[in-house]
Amino acid sequence: MRFFIDTANIEQIKEAHDLGILDGVTTNPSLMAKEGISGKENITNHYKAICDIVDGPVSAEVIATDVEGMIREGEELAQIAPNIVIKIPMTKDGIKAIRYFSQKGIPTNCTLVFSSGQALIAAKAGATFLSPFVGRIDDINWDGVALIREIAELYAVQGFNTEILAASVRNSRHIVQSALAGADIVTCPLPSILGLLKHPLTDIGLAKFLADHKKSNA
Ligand code: E4P
Repeated sequence: MRFFIDTANIEQIKEAHDLGILDGVTTNPSLMAKEGISGKENITNHYKAICDIVDGPVSAEVIATDVEGMIREGEELAQIAPNIVIKIPMTKDGIKAIRYFSQKGIPTNCTLVFSSGQALIAAKAGATFLSPFVGRIDDINWDGVALIREIAELYAVQGFNTEILAASVRNSRHIVQSALAGADIVTCPLPSILGLLKHPLTDIGLAKFLADHKKSNA
């Protein structure tokens, strides 16, 4: 099980990296905008800064929606650092671009995935990673984790190598459920990662251990 952080915030990436458990980063245009990063040069420099912190895969999303534009943008993004992964939306042109990059050996992350049919065609096109959006499916009163489970079964039955990167994770429980459902990777906001550490009985137990130690060493 690998952990990616889903943010473009440098401080949060550093904090997760310092925990020693961070395997990669995913970003998207909304997350870049949230950090106030705009303009080609700033965006490129921001990806460079992220890749300086993290050795693992860093997903950088294309903005173009036509295959030629996606390929042009993706090739430029791939020049930024060897660990850049080209993040491409699940569209007809997106599938063509994923196929192109797959044949060139450039890693891709197929994003905005909401069904097993989409997962099937992305794997067939040669996507390196597949991002089903768990939280956004739950938002419409459907079952995001069930989708992860179905895709995991589908990929196992068919022997696809595309890795399932559970995305749109909203809480720590989503992480555990996605892991149980067969996700290879979970990408999540920092609070969801840190939430895994927490249990009130741990805090109570530690306070008691320390109090007992203090008493017998007074
Ligand atoms: C990751 O690849 C996605 O961009 C991200 O997880 C979306 O999360 P959200 O649904 O919380 O915006």
